[in-house]
Amino acid sequence: MSLQPIWAIQTRSRQIDLEQFSAEVRPVSGAMGAYVHGLDVRDPDFEQLSRLLHSFKAVMLRGQPADLSIADYVAFGRGLGELAVDPYVEPPFADHPAVMGLVRDADSDAYNFGGDWHSDGSYLERPGGLTVLWGKHVPTHGGDTLFADMELAWETLTPAFREMLDGRRVLHAATGLGQKVTIRSKGDYVGLDRSRDLERIEHFHPIKRTHPETGRHALFVNQAYSVGIEGCSDDESAAILRFLFDHSGLPAMTARMVWEPDTVLIWDNRMTTHYAIGDYGGQRREMYRLAITGETPF
Ligand code: SIN
Repeated sequence: MSLQPIWAIQTRSRQIDLEQFSAEVRPVSGAMGAYVHGLDVRDPDFEQLSRLLHSFKAVMLRGQPADLSIADYVAFGRGLGELAVDPYVEPPFADHPAVMGLVRDADSDAYNFGGDWHSDGSYLERPGGLTVLWGKHVPTHGGDTLFADMELAWETLTPAFREMLDGRRVLHAATGLGQKVTIRSKGDYVGLDRSRDLERIEHFHPIKRTHPETGRHALFVNQAYSVGIEGCSDDESAAILRFLFDHSGLPAMTARMVWEPDTVLIWDNRMTTHYAIGDYGGQRREMYRLAITGETPF
């Protein structure tokens, strides 16, 4: 009889001085994430927001104005940086091509966009820096967004394993997206621009990504788009990546961010991966996403 090992990684909860913020901040888990009250996206304090993101990696800004418009929202996104236009998904508003609509009706059984661990656009030459998601209509329960802290994932590897990985590059390819899209229409959830052939976009990026502002390091792999480690055989790559996906998805690395009405979520793709939980069938979920272009990873 083989014994099932009962062992789970244990981490220290991050200690962050909440007094430094004028907004009211409630950490979500020991790893990462915060709920924030008192930061209005129509009158944003970008300096405080940047400190919040450096500290927590993903923040849900509660209590946004009920009459927030798409134009207000886009203006907020512009204040965060250069807005990216998604290469695969057709925008719902002609005047605002950078806005991606993630809308799923109550009776839809279409593909749950984002329902896999990923870092936005990691297959791009300049993948996502920040992503912003506005919950225009959110389920009463379910439809949470789950995050993994990839800085913690890197830190909790042994020095020996980190040494083996450091300096290696990983190939990120939009294959997963392409397969899902061709196997099954995304229906009413996102509009795909069918006038173009789906081009396979792929780029190599360092497995240890450095944050351009804080200098901190994170494990930069994700289940949706990371397909191989440079210099390794397919079998070696698959085994190491499998281990890294499992390691970074361990409960102690994660924070489950719960949606409420009038909430805008912002996360840093350099230091996190995320997973849209598809457990809200029977309820409408209407979200609008903005991607802020990041740097070429280093
Ligand atoms: C995404 O993966 O970008 C969307 C996350 C969500 O819908 O919760």
